[in-house]
Amino acid sequence: MLTFDVITLFPELFEEHLNHLPFKKAIQKGLLKVNLHNLRDYALDSYGTVDGKPYGGGTGMVLMVEPISKALGRIENKERTVLMSPRGKKFDQKKAGEYAGLQQITLICGRYEGVDARVEEHLVDESVSVGDYVLSGGELPALAIMESVTRLLPGVLEKEDAAAKESFENGFLEHPQYTRPEDFKGMKVPEVLLSGNHKEIEKWKKENSTKID
Ligand SMILES: C[S@@+](CC[C@H](N)C(=O)[O-])C[C@H]1O[C@@H](n2cnc3c(N)ncnc32)[C@H](O)[C@@H]1O
Repeated sequence: MLTFDVITLFPELFEEHLNHLPFKKAIQKGLLKVNLHNLRDYALDSYGTVDGKPYGGGTGMVLMVEPISKALGRIENKERTVLMSPRGKKFDQKKAGEYAGLQQITLICGRYEGVDARVEEHLVDESVSVGDYVLSGGELPALAIMESVTRLLPGVLEKEDAAAKESFENGFLEHPQYTRPEDFKGMKVPEVLLSGNHKEIEKWKKENSTKID
């Protein structure tokens, strides 16, 4: 079983997603556990302070190292600790496969102007980015990572080989897919897919899968 521990100021952003596929099924089948840790519970004072002004000046506030360190201290059996950061290594399907082989992953979600650099320097194993753009928080990146990893856990997808055939697996982007009707306002489904000729269909699928450079 894989356990995700998520440190966030907004646990409610995760709750709705966890009630839908693939999370719901993975949790019901005992393949996945998700623990949400509200960073506010580790605030330094009764006002709930978790952020401070950056040394050296600058706009906005930065999440402090101490509440994050305290939150990490409460998580048991840590195997991989990951900071969500636009400066991190780009997350991809290969990384998702690597994470799917672990038993525990802690994801730290930044907010505001980011996170005290000592978190990245001393408290995590790696920083991960979901792309070259800036979001307001690490919650959407964390959910994207969690979902892509959960899809790869054996027993989560309907058909065992579904994950293996998807885009990015084996260095290819999946071929285009079509469903009913065969003809929509003159936009037709490629004839070969309606032919029933499995050999030709497989050939077409292969030819229409794009190789990733
Ligand atoms: C507004 S961003 C901080 C941006 C930071 N000031 C900078 O310029 O690099 C707040 C938080 O959102 C998360 N975040 C934003 N974009 C991200 C991305 N592309 N990948 C992963 N996390 C991201 C990180 O946790 C970050 O600490």
